[in-house]
Amino acid sequence: GAPSALRAGADGTVATPTTSPAGTSSTSAPAAPAVSSGATASARPFRGTHQAGILEAPPAHATFVALDLEEGADADTVRRLLTVWTDDIERLTAGRGTLTDLEPELAAVTAALTVTVGVGRRVVEAAGAPVPDWLGPLPAFAVDRLDPRWGGGDLLLQICATSPTTVAHAQRRLLTGVAGLARPRWVQRGFREPHEGPGVPMRNLFGQVDGTVQPDVAGLDADLLWVGDAGPAWLRGGSSVVVRRIEMDLDGWDRADRRARENSIGRRLDTGAPVTGGALDDAPDLAAVDDLGFHVVDDAAHVRRAHASAPHERFLRRPYSYDDPPAAGATSSSGLVFVAYQADPVRQFVPVQARLAELDLLNLWTTPVGSAVFAVLPGAADGEVLGAAMLG
Ligand code: HEM
Repeated sequence: GAPSALRAGADGTVATPTTSPAGTSSTSAPAAPAVSSGATASARPFRGTHQAGILEAPPAHATFVALDLEEGADADTVRRLLTVWTDDIERLTAGRGTLTDLEPELAAVTAALTVTVGVGRRVVEAAGAPVPDWLGPLPAFAVDRLDPRWGGGDLLLQICATSPTTVAHAQRRLLTGVAGLARPRWVQRGFREPHEGPGVPMRNLFGQVDGTVQPDVAGLDADLLWVGDAGPAWLRGGSSVVVRRIEMDLDGWDRADRRARENSIGRRLDTGAPVTGGALDDAPDLAAVDDLGFHVVDDAAHVRRAHASAPHERFLRRPYSYDDPPAAGATSSSGLVFVAYQADPVRQFVPVQARLAELDLLNLWTTPVGSAVFAVLPGAADGEVLGAAMLG
């Protein structure tokens, strides 16, 4: 099962205690603004061995922004950009405006804000550091209908908070802070919340309990998440993230009856428990057969096909739902911003995605339309700039 921290409530219940916006001003610090329901004034520490925004329970709101370096960018460009972001992120996550902030009042509501920075191949090359083999586009999968509009990028910002205003403000300051160095390529917004309360992962827009089976990345399975000795020295303590935009055909899903829906996953819709019985946290009995000798968990059910066939085929799923304004005449434009963290995406993620592309009942209603892979920088120690080891 997942560590409880990853399953805690959308209100960021694992956060450190409320932090007042110290540092906004030592003389006339305004009282912290009233926090709307669902948002806590908690602050998440920015500095540490690993970046924040990975192990924490995902808060309700997230924006993913991919950026491209400007033409002719070199190591100096990367150094300036990461210096600006390090300072901006440290301030924003502590409830202070950035140096150029015109609305520091918006920064006072920390709302468990985390900002996680990823880099693509071009950034690593510009910095003159060794590029991990896996840092590039994933192989093409038969189910893919990729739209370049949602793919690639030289840099990634994953901005998460319990308040959408906090996310929007951080996004704007982080983008304006690096104007002239990098420009936005795509932006994906998502939301999630546990409907049944702490301990239950989110429900996606198909109504499924999603995120039940996770490796214990905060404990025994930490090696699955963080880059170790096998990776380049500059990335130790970092990770990788796969961001795939997956459309979900809600109209098609409406036409499937409950039995077909539960069969497609291998878990019940009401409780999220396996169709072979037990509770949410129980593993499905993949060997169970019915009176006729057929597997109770369908041979093409998502949990059978996605289940790790070797211990290394596991990763941390941290997805968000999206529900964008539909095109004229359509009822919805919805899906998942599917986000997976792992030490090595080619070794851990690709075999699972390849198996799902080959056979998975969910493919009847889901279509990957975007894909990107980034190296997630290690955390910044006190006084250090993000990516310091990469920049040498
Ligand atoms: C399990 C939904 C895409 C990997 C599940 C479960 C649901 C679900 C409801 C069962 C509960 C749980 O353990 O979380 C979806 C939907 C998707 C999607 C709606 C697309 C829109 C993917 C993709 C991958 C993936 C692209 C990886 C390539 C997994 C894994 C499990 C899982 C590893 C746990 C399997 C196990 O029981 O060991 N998914 N999923 N899913 N999914 Fe997905």
